[in-house]
Amino acid sequence: MPVTAVAPANIAFIKYWGLADRALGVPANQSLSMTLSRCVSRCTVDTIKGPDEVWWHEDGRARPADPVFAARVVEHLDRLRAFAEVDVSMRIITTNSFPTAAGIASSASGFAALTLAALTRVDAAVDPGRLSILARKSGSGSAARSVLGGYVLWPEDSEDPASAATTFLPREHWALSDVIAVVDSGPKATSSREGHFRASTSPHFGRRVELLGERLQRVRTALRERDFATLAEAVEEEMYEMQAIATTSRPPLRYWRPGTLRVLERIEALRASGVPVCATTDAGPNVHALCPDDAVTAVAAALSDDCETIIIDKVGAGPALSSEHLGMPTSPGTND
Ligand code: DP6
Repeated sequence: MPVTAVAPANIAFIKYWGLADRALGVPANQSLSMTLSRCVSRCTVDTIKGPDEVWWHEDGRARPADPVFAARVVEHLDRLRAFAEVDVSMRIITTNSFPTAAGIASSASGFAALTLAALTRVDAAVDPGRLSILARKSGSGSAARSVLGGYVLWPEDSEDPASAATTFLPREHWALSDVIAVVDSGPKATSSREGHFRASTSPHFGRRVELLGERLQRVRTALRERDFATLAEAVEEEMYEMQAIATTSRPPLRYWRPGTLRVLERIEALRASGVPVCATTDAGPNVHALCPDDAVTAVAAALSDDCETIIIDKVGAGPALSSEHLGMPTSPGTND
């Protein structure tokens, strides 16, 4: 029987940007994110005879996945098979509920879903900590956070960059929403992976790492106390700093587009008019407008004219198994 896992994307308030160790793929700093609930990846895994197969499911049907993506998936499957001590081929069918590779953490949700589905399919029992570490090894560091719900800290041990993510606060603690203004739904020109590699070439990177502990502390306190004004200040400070590191890397990386700035200006104006909202961006042009649930309608209405689409999401519970499997292709591969 196939196994299907659904895992959410997440949006970082304090960003993972830069590596402590390239070879190990471990982060230079602790990050803190909110797990989403509607932006999800669904991944169906079954064992087959013959070589691994990777399928991309879109518009109701599966087609062979892009070879670069497929190779990354198979590389991760090799890692999971080694961990579970099994030698079995798998068929992977995966899809996203939101634009892929546009700075909405599609690899975080995708690799979290793949890790959970594949390990479940081969009956490998894993606790959330082990799942987080294995998901991170996919190369999508933020996948380490997508295996948990609510507000998530990664790595949990500030002295051990290879440690797992942990739930900082459960989603019930504070009902925050994320109004995503999709300024450009196309794939980004430069991967986050490349951005992480280049981060340390910025002359400001070392100083950023020194200052981050205090900013993270402010975010933690603001979340604990549900203090939106303090959260907003720290989150926007962090957004500008991450982009500053990217734009001062060598060679520079500029993820924002003119539409990004228009949305940021709207958010500023909205906040000045008394609506509790703040902005953050990742390695892409789209803007995440964070706000308490009761401000969502006002925020979405204010941003809709300046973007392609609005996706309204909110803090979520984390990944789960599902009985709704993605349609298996009828041709290659035979079920075991
Ligand atoms: C800017 O290496 O986890 O989103 O694999 O592309 O999802 P993807 O990225 P990853 O880097 C994430 C970078 C970030 C900040 C963050 O989410 O912490």
